[in-house]
Amino acid sequence: NTYVVIMAGGIGSRFWPFSRTNYPKQFHDVLGTGQSMLQATAERFKNICPPENVFIVTNKDYEALVKQQLPELTDNQILLEPIGRNTAPCIAYASYKIAQLNPNANLVVTPADHVVLKQDVFTEVINDALEAAAKDDVLITLGITPSRPDTGYGYIQYIDEAGSKTKKVKTFTEKPNLELAQMFLESGDFVWNSGIFIWSARSILKAFRQHLPEITEVFEEGLGTLNTSDEQNFITRAYSQCRNVSIDYGIMEKVDNVYVLLADIGWSDLGTWNSLYTINEKDEAGNVVDGEVMLYDTKDCIIKTPKDRLVVLQGLEDYIVAEYDNVLMICKKTEEQKVKEFMADAKSKK
Ligand code: GDD
Ligand code: MG
Repeated sequence: NTYVVIMAGGIGSRFWPFSRTNYPKQFHDVLGTGQSMLQATAERFKNICPPENVFIVTNKDYEALVKQQLPELTDNQILLEPIGRNTAPCIAYASYKIAQLNPNANLVVTPADHVVLKQDVFTEVINDALEAAAKDDVLITLGITPSRPDTGYGYIQYIDEAGSKTKKVKTFTEKPNLELAQMFLESGDFVWNSGIFIWSARSILKAFRQHLPEITEVFEEGLGTLNTSDEQNFITRAYSQCRNVSIDYGIMEKVDNVYVLLADIGWSDLGTWNSLYTINEKDEAGNVVDGEVMLYDTKDCIIKTPKDRLVVLQGLEDYIVAEYDNVLMICKKTEEQKVKEFMADAKSKK
């Protein structure tokens, strides 16, 4: 009864110029392992459920990319969205579709752009979570010990009862401001929401009915079309009626049956250049280099440039130097939140 839903519809704007609208980061081999992030994500579930139970939700523009990278999937396993409406509609679509196939389905919902270094622990934790989700009406997320007051994450405060692996969540705060994030971190009572969720189709659809009834109504109207040749037409209409809302704001902050499983899985969200810098090995001068370079008095930089371009740098400290497909960006590491803006502004250029 286990199904995996991989959310792969984001555009990864904080990873520009490497991540592009026509080729977002989840389709790139970001770590240089020979696999894209999407392929690595799919592989992570090889021992958890059969390949025919893996579903990818993505924008229709990426259909060819998904098929090329995961040729074992059938068309019915690739859910195409006409427009991005964030993670709540994406999860509603996948949950209704899978529930039509199997009302007793238990789901693992995962982003396509995370790194998990400890595969064995991951498999174990997911199986524990699936067991708990199959038994009770609970929404489970994997919790990660926080290491910095990052404002891009959800923060979870839980009740620590000895003996139970899944811990009841007291508060869920999505993307707090810096002051709050700092307070959460210092208190030691909080973990990050990994964004990897485990629940039964029944439980998540119940939560949708309660907290996002407008999305529920839209999808319930077209239930009969799911898994038929009318599905795509219905979905196009349905998405035009859904607002943009994430599962975190729309549901996780509001429900009272959330549980967290602390997961020491070697996790990182490769969301930004700094996160890529952090998880990579550095040279003696603290540089992370992927490309052909000659470096002089250059330290603590992350450099990712095409192999056929020789890059010579002198006197550079704490910078991102990234080139991909005719765009070169040089940006202070501490200013990386501006990268999103660069991407938006560059659209008008070419
Ligand atoms: N199919 C589809 N459609 N996928 C989407 C869409 C969409 O409209 N929007 C986002 N995604 C995918 C992204 O590609 C990513 O894999 C995943 O959904 C999560 O979206 P993000 O936009 O990356 O979310 P976030 O990083 O800001 O926040 C979430 O993840 C954090 C951990 O990495 C939240 O769940 C936070 O609470 C959490 O801490
Ligand atoms: Mg993310």
